[in-house]
Amino acid sequence: MRQQNVKICKGAGCKAWSSDKIARELIEVNEGLGPEGIRVCRVACMNVCGGGASVRVNSKNKIEKMKSIEDILEVLGVGTAELTA
Ligand code: FES
Repeated sequence: MRQQNVKICKGAGCKAWSSDKIARELIEVNEGLGPEGIRVCRVACMNVCGGGASVRVNSKNKIEKMKSIEDILEVLGVGTAELTA
């Protein structure tokens, strides 16, 4: 698996949607993936607040709204097989 970059908003609006918790959990998942895993970056408000934590994956233009760690893992294509390997 090539390294994937995930930018997670740390603005107040996204913190209300658990962006801190999602980022923490993603960092923990990354520790089990090895060097090619996921690079987690916290970024300032992206001006699309509400409806979930704002996340940009691999510098794509689209900002996705995430409500849980499972939402991000699905977008990244990281399944339970990778996590237990
Ligand atoms: S607080 Fe996250 S997009 Fe504004």
